[in-house]
Amino acid sequence: MCGIVGYIGKRDVAPLLLEGLQRLEYRGYDSAGIVITSPKASGLKMVKAKGRVRDLEAKVPKRFAGTTGIAHTRWATHGAPSDENAHPHLDAEGKVAVVHNGIIDNATELRAKLVADGVEFLSETDTEVLVHLVARSQAVTLEEKVREALRHVEGTYGVAVMHADFSDRIVVARNGSPVVLGIGEKEMFVASDIAALVSHTRQIVTLEDGEMATLKADDFRTYTTEGSRTTATPTTVEWEAESYDMGGHDTYMHKEISEQADAVDRVLRGRIDDRFSTVHLGGLNLDAREARGIRRVKILGCGTSYHAGMIGAQLIEELARIPADAEPASEFRYRNPVVDPDTLYVAVSQSGETYDVLAAVQELKRKGARVLGVVNVVGSAIAREADGGMYVHAGPEVCVVSTKCFTNTVVAFALLALHLGRIRDLSVSDGKRLIEGLRKLPAQIAEILKTEDEIKKIAEEYAGAQSMMFIGRVRGYPVALEASLKLKEISYIHAEAYPASELKHGPLALIEPALPTVAIVPDDELLEKNRAALEEIKARSGRILAVAHREQEKADHTIVVPKNETELDPILMGIPLQLLAYHTALAMGRDIDKPRNLAKSVTVE
Ligand code: F6R
Repeated sequence: MCGIVGYIGKRDVAPLLLEGLQRLEYRGYDSAGIVITSPKASGLKMVKAKGRVRDLEAKVPKRFAGTTGIAHTRWATHGAPSDENAHPHLDAEGKVAVVHNGIIDNATELRAKLVADGVEFLSETDTEVLVHLVARSQAVTLEEKVREALRHVEGTYGVAVMHADFSDRIVVARNGSPVVLGIGEKEMFVASDIAALVSHTRQIVTLEDGEMATLKADDFRTYTTEGSRTTATPTTVEWEAESYDMGGHDTYMHKEISEQADAVDRVLRGRIDDRFSTVHLGGLNLDAREARGIRRVKILGCGTSYHAGMIGAQLIEELARIPADAEPASEFRYRNPVVDPDTLYVAVSQSGETYDVLAAVQELKRKGARVLGVVNVVGSAIAREADGGMYVHAGPEVCVVSTKCFTNTVVAFALLALHLGRIRDLSVSDGKRLIEGLRKLPAQIAEILKTEDEIKKIAEEYAGAQSMMFIGRVRGYPVALEASLKLKEISYIHAEAYPASELKHGPLALIEPALPTVAIVPDDELLEKNRAALEEIKARSGRILAVAHREQEKADHTIVVPKNETELDPILMGIPLQLLAYHTALAMGRDIDKPRNLAKSVTVE
């Protein structure tokens, strides 16, 4: 999704902004641009390019000096990827420059009015209306001009504005699209993602929706879009700049898969309470009496986070005996759901910025519901909007497709389920059993990762498949869903996921030698039923890859994973399938970290 980075200070701005854009590349984009100035310069200098940041860098002239600038990576929504549609956008006089993330819903209407007034548009973007509105404003200060322009705009924005007549400042505003300020020594940064800031400063301020800020080299102030001052309390980012580097791996996806043993160790750290065989989750803001009053749990998330939520719902239902289910947040928010005061709502999001999840949270809050967030990015919009919650502490996830965050989110749900369970009817001995299981996870993950070469060989065999089927039963079904999503996202092989119990009700018709099936076959109470499904597939000459706790004789290949407590098995069974997707995509020569059409955090509808 689009990325913004900006700087004002004393340093040469262009290399700084280009480096910032590179750090945002992982979000997915199709074009990039940069505009700069300096207190002594007579105007703005701009370069834009369709393609990669390196294409933009190649177009930047040798003499391109400046100390203030804003830059952008665009992910096309209005108008195809092109030099013209890339941001920044300038007004006719070349005095106002705007970069924008989000969508202006009433852009067509605004454009028609501006065109009727004689404004000539140079791009097809929704953003350009904002440039002309700022340029035409009669207000005296840049802040007022931007405020006046934003008053006409309906939709979402994270926006940064420069003006040649006000070269001592950058004005930024946020509504629905992240804007983070970075505080340096006599310099200020702005970005849509802390990834672009952490190599320069760890002191950040996250703007709230409806907030604006003026950045000058030696100070900044924040205020509402109505103009009243707000208090901005800087926070320190924990993540190191190095966590955004590839660290010797060929792709971020590989790096992040490999980090999972440490990541899981982090989500557990400091939370286990052996004395009471439970876990401490201080951030939930939910006391024991309130926890006992919960009658239902509803988990909301999108994509991979939704799948993690499905496993979370099963864990909560199984361990805490509270009816629980998960639903895509993108669906929930559009179906006028009944919001029940005794239901605990849990919003799951790696980025904490996914618009559909945020909108669902806001709708729930408006209706008086209690919402917890299970989020990776500290201080993100969903984390701030929720009444409480837990961070999953996976560390930064750069690859577009989620792996370590999925695993850590599921572990976080196991902690939540154990916590709720021990407040209700889960026995001390079951609490102890599960804690022991949780503690075993990092070592077991490391064991699974050692089987990578074997998984690679299997993946190379499946790389030519047109389509693949993934099946699992109960705890295995969300694992199958997530594994099929991973495969399609990065290899572009068509994949279907079904509950194994549903095979006979339709999808069995698809089974033939050319359609391999990946079956999740844990050693649990459903083992025999799962084996029967394998028989059915084999009887139709289907090829089978089983992920199981022991060799499956009906399968052509079995990836054996270590056994844990039955409730925790899904956490481990997904990991070899991340590697399967990875090596299948690699064998097919795909751009693994930047799959086509996808963006890391989907901050638009
Ligand atoms: C898939 C993937 C996406 C995200 C989804 C939600 O690999 O990463 O499906 O899970 O877009 O994103 P978050 O978790 O940031 O809300």
